Amino acid sequence: MEDNSLPKTFYVTTPIYYVNDVPHIGHAYTTIAADSLARYRQLAGYDCFFLTGTDEHGQKVEKAARDGGQTPIELADRVVERFKALWARLDISYDDFIRTTQKRHIEAVTALYQRVWERGDIYLGDYEDWYCTPCETFWTQTQLAEGNKCPNCGRPTEKLKEKSYFFRMSKYRDALLRYLEDNPDFIQPSSRYNEILSFVKGELKDLSISRTTFRWGVPVPNDPGHVIYVWFDALTNYITAVGYPGDQERFQQYWPAKCHIIGKDILRFHAVYWPTFLMSAGLPLPRKIFAHGWWTVEGQKMSKSLGNVVDPYQLVDEYGVDPIRYFLLREVPFGADGDFSRSALIQRINGDLANDLGNLVSRILAMVKKYCKGFVPPPQGGSGGGEFLRAQVKETFTELGLSMDQLAFHRALGAIWDLVGTLNKYLDETSPWSLAKEEGRKAELEGILYNSLEVLRVLAIFLFPFVPATAQRMWEMLGLPGKVGEQRIEEVSMWGGFPEGLQITKPTPLFPRIEM
Ligand code: MSP
Repeated sequence: MEDNSLPKTFYVTTPIYYVNDVPHIGHAYTTIAADSLARYRQLAGYDCFFLTGTDEHGQKVEKAARDGGQTPIELADRVVERFKALWARLDISYDDFIRTTQKRHIEAVTALYQRVWERGDIYLGDYEDWYCTPCETFWTQTQLAEGNKCPNCGRPTEKLKEKSYFFRMSKYRDALLRYLEDNPDFIQPSSRYNEILSFVKGELKDLSISRTTFRWGVPVPNDPGHVIYVWFDALTNYITAVGYPGDQERFQQYWPAKCHIIGKDILRFHAVYWPTFLMSAGLPLPRKIFAHGWWTVEGQKMSKSLGNVVDPYQLVDEYGVDPIRYFLLREVPFGADGDFSRSALIQRINGDLANDLGNLVSRILAMVKKYCKGFVPPPQGGSGGGEFLRAQVKETFTELGLSMDQLAFHRALGAIWDLVGTLNKYLDETSPWSLAKEEGRKAELEGILYNSLEVLRVLAIFLFPFVPATAQRMWEMLGLPGKVGEQRIEEVSMWGGFPEGLQITKPTPLFPRIEM
């Protein structure tokens, strides 16, 4: 029987990032999205487990290390610190950080490989493709540059054959197709689902899952001349972190993951390879894979050679953490491509954050200070009108839940800003500053301020998943005790929860305006 006293679990992951490159805005985007989802589930009472980490094996990392005159693990150790520092700076609340060079992971990869082998799904064959000797990299025909040149260095490639272990992916084509047809929500957004569906409807070839041309990886059990293909290794991280293979109890608790959040460029690995590996091993499939879009920068593809790679550190230093988190999640529907531009960012900061939200908070708190000596007034039996505010709080709560179920962060934020707009309008229309000048209208004035404080209190918790530091500051300015992130969203959103007689603290501006 199910134990209802235990909270429901919610396991969410980011991709694990390659350590041959330093973090940029694309990495930050995936991770901020996952963080917001995890924080929301936490507020909703789930036992949440949020995983991120680094992908440290493979030829690319080996080569980058060699080019920099280091060993691969030296390179990894250094870049891992950059990722961890960035996540700290961006308020990323991960529960575990996995590195594929950790012992627990090497054991998990070996165990998964072994299990697939025991199922009879691995055989030794010949791998043939275009090989670039200086880069030590195989390329498929479609990846090659003009004249069969290497897309990496531009030098000629040659057809080369090597022994490789193959995974019988073809064997799982029908099962995967059936699974996709039975679970149309498995891959989102739906355009991505359709893409994968038509890919699987075609032929699914067996997959080469070992290499002999480099050493930096997990050795194939019983044939250590081969290392396990980096994607077989990397994808396994999702089960390593929840205790595979040793900790059955933990594994049962969190697996299958509720959601893998990834970028669209790595969808096929997650939506075709990973499920078939799991099917072979007899393990449940993740519940959902969400592929987000890509950012361009001022209309151009982001690339090292163009020198337009956006450094998240620099952005945060310039604009602050929460404005960046807000912009990335609000500007573009999650799943679609977007363009990053300074002017769009500044517009969001000055408009949505400084003007709509920041001014609203200072306006209300200043009035509470002036007209109520800084103490939260009594509700005054509902005088001050505002029944529609109460109704909209309820609607926003519902809309937030629906949007977060679909990872529609921009919609969730849109609904929150509708509420911000309504409260701004309420103040303009009821104009408490004029009431303050009139005799005998104190109750009404207090009712309006009470209602306004109520909405701010609820807004703080609604905002928390997206802009956690701002939400906590609001909470403290309102004089509310404890941490907003430790509250339960369904309790806080109940109207009338503001403890009477609390004293608000000195308001400080939430978002400074940026001069264009
Ligand atoms: N190591 C693999 C993932 C293994 S997961 C089992 C990998 N790493 S990565 O570092 O290259 O990229 C990680 C993520 O960054 C991907 O989800 C990718 O989509 C994202 N982005 C990289 N550039 C991006 C943009 N310009 N815009 C948005 N996201 C982008 O792939």
